[in-house]
Amino acid sequence: MKYMGSKRSLLENGLGKIILSECENKKRFIDLFSGTGSVATYVAKNTELEVVAVDLQVYSTLMSDAVLSRTSPYNTQNIYTTWLPEISKKLRNSKLWQQIEELEAQAIKDTQYVFKTRDLCNQKSFIGPVLNAYGGYYFSALQAITFDYMLKNLPEDEEMKKICHAAIISAASQCAAAPGHTAQPFNPEGNGLKYILEAWKKDPIEYFKLGAEKIAKEYALVAGYGLSSDAETYTEFITDEDVVFLDPPYSGVQYSRFYHVLETIARNKQYEVSGAGRYPSITERPQSEFSNVGSSKLALERLLKKLATTGATLIFTFPEKECSNGLSGDFILDTAKEWFEIQTITSNSKFSTMGGNNIHRDARMHYDELVLIMTNKNRKQKSFNKAIYTIANIQNSKTNENAILFS
Ligand SMILES: C[S@@+](CC[C@H](N)C(=O)[O-])C[C@H]1O[C@@H](n2cnc3c(N)ncnc32)[C@H](O)[C@@H]1O
Repeated sequence: MKYMGSKRSLLENGLGKIILSECENKKRFIDLFSGTGSVATYVAKNTELEVVAVDLQVYSTLMSDAVLSRTSPYNTQNIYTTWLPEISKKLRNSKLWQQIEELEAQAIKDTQYVFKTRDLCNQKSFIGPVLNAYGGYYFSALQAITFDYMLKNLPEDEEMKKICHAAIISAASQCAAAPGHTAQPFNPEGNGLKYILEAWKKDPIEYFKLGAEKIAKEYALVAGYGLSSDAETYTEFITDEDVVFLDPPYSGVQYSRFYHVLETIARNKQYEVSGAGRYPSITERPQSEFSNVGSSKLALERLLKKLATTGATLIFTFPEKECSNGLSGDFILDTAKEWFEIQTITSNSKFSTMGGNNIHRDARMHYDELVLIMTNKNRKQKSFNKAIYTIANIQNSKTNENAILFS
């Protein structure tokens, strides 16, 4: 899944080592803005800490939970021999399925075919959340009805259900006829048609199986969980035995604008949609104060202040320069120094801006990312373990203290 700000590559480039070192002698690891769950799953696979992945978006925590909550690989054969054949049977018995097969058999694959698909998907359906909202736009009718039958008939067994639900989200993300994210589907009138046809050709079951295989083989050493919550709300459960990882949004555009299709599938609820992007109403999409230039600074200050009272060790990552939500690594440093002793590490990276950076319009750009390790000033802490992080010393712009580079 493409994700704005995923830490997957940084983990292999030094961030992983830093996190593992800070986890020593701690009991829990909490990823407060977990996104793809890349950091949470990395820690769960490499330490014996309980790992909690928190995110505002349900689909994100559902994906993390499918891995974090298991302590052994899952045998997917159960899914293929019992659950999937049931879904196929139900699909084939559906009246709508027959209409879809007729459309697929007759249609010349042109712009009209897309509009006919939209008409077909417009018939009121009570099966699931995908067909009416997204069929004919992000998905072919066949893909949409397949996802809906899967969602309507999720397995009863908890473990199997978690993997299947996460694999449906993964398949939907792979099949969606949209450039990168699901902010808007491709437009059939023009260049978009060939991309729509390409995406609609993808077999949702095959992509489901790919997702299921990937999820099923990953597991935690100690069982943890994913939880959909606001980061600040969750601080009341944090203690001084925890390591907290913070990677908040850097864009002034809400994540829920880019990922609403996946969120709808995760919530498994039918929504009225509108606009070119087929969005559920704004009240149904998680809104983050961190993705709003007017509220991000106050939200950050409140969060840090609350975290300071917990005594937990924090690992904070953020681009050094100001981003479109008004936050910057420099601002975070200045705010946090009231309550925390801070060790600063700088990494040189590339990231997808998605319009999220004020400096440049390129889709991908180089930037300096700060990794800040924060310990409460009033707590007696072991001194920072400089040796582990010293991959190459560089001069740090801000503090000149403990500054190192991993790249
Ligand atoms: C930069 S991404 C995190 C990426 C993640 N570290 C990864 O590797 O995929 C920021 C995440 O914060 C989440 N988020 C935004 N506001 C939040 C809040 N108030 N509480 C919890 N999560 C929030 C977004 O949904 C998004 O998934």
